[in-house]
Amino acid sequence: MLEKIEKVLKEAGDWKAKNSEEIEKFRLSFLSKKGRLNELFDDFKNVPNEKKREIGQELNKLKAKLEERFAELQQSKSNSAGLDIEKPDVFLPEINGSLGSLHPLTLVRKRITEIFARMGFSSEDGPEIESDWYNFTALNFAENHPAREMQDTFFVSKGKEQKDDMILRTHTSNVQVRLMEAKKPPLRSIMIGRVYRNEAISARAHCQFHQVEGLYIDKNVSFKDLKDTLLHFSKEMFGKDTKIRLRPSYFPFTEPSAEIDISCFICKGEGCNICKKTGWVEIAGSGMVDPNVLINSGIDPEEYTGFAFGMGIERIAMLKYDINDIRLFFDNDVRFLNQFQGA
Ligand code: PHE
Repeated sequence: MLEKIEKVLKEAGDWKAKNSEEIEKFRLSFLSKKGRLNELFDDFKNVPNEKKREIGQELNKLKAKLEERFAELQQSKSNSAGLDIEKPDVFLPEINGSLGSLHPLTLVRKRITEIFARMGFSSEDGPEIESDWYNFTALNFAENHPAREMQDTFFVSKGKEQKDDMILRTHTSNVQVRLMEAKKPPLRSIMIGRVYRNEAISARAHCQFHQVEGLYIDKNVSFKDLKDTLLHFSKEMFGKDTKIRLRPSYFPFTEPSAEIDISCFICKGEGCNICKKTGWVEIAGSGMVDPNVLINSGIDPEEYTGFAFGMGIERIAMLKYDINDIRLFFDNDVRFLNQFQGA
């Protein structure tokens, strides 16, 4: 019996355990119900009475030593710094070192926000699910105005009157009215966000895209301010040699209205596929805020004037990074996204 005890003790002392599985094996072999220790305690019944005292003491010592050894093995699983070596070491350098990158639309959004912030424009936000009032009626779209049709609206629910219909906003101009209602002039803000139009998805068009709206309302704001603001923006965004040109246009909420083109920075006006050989590419709609819109928003048009503009963020990103398919922005293919590392 004493020999057996000696043998178990030696085996336990030599036991190596590198992980929890092996430590558990130790516990099962020595300390569990069916383990070696219990086996010995069972044998104890057969020990002659005169030896019981001596062997009993040895068995109790063995029990204590096995428990001690078990605790020791558990301890050694942690290294000297006290970290569990089985858990990942968060301080180790990563293996391939590749970082994610910002989405090209995020990059362009950030750049636009930065450029306008330096001209004193704050950033504002508005709802994507919007009433007809803010998206159309308050912006001077008459009830059956054909311009409503042109916006390919997604309808959410019908209201009592047309102005109460709920829709997905077709442009960011809805935030103009909300902003003018909420704050007193002077106002100088941009509003960036997602807009929706019921258009067939193709390389050139999508049913969801992003716009940036700009609004400046104060005393004596003139058309020249609009032109200078957009010229400065275009130079900052596309390069200092960029020129702009204004073409007369129509929007119900601005009067006069103009489409803004920039000189093609790819062919420098020579004519290429991007500018369809014209030397110019369209980037924005704009104009002086119509007095009716000011009145609808609670601002006196006799006292204040203002300009507004709106442009597509995807369009700017496509021009800036020479991207030829708008669907790429929403596919999230990492081969596409990886190209903007460090951009
Ligand atoms: N909301 C117009 C559009 O989506 C753009 C625009 C904004 C035009 C502000 C003039 C003034 O096409």
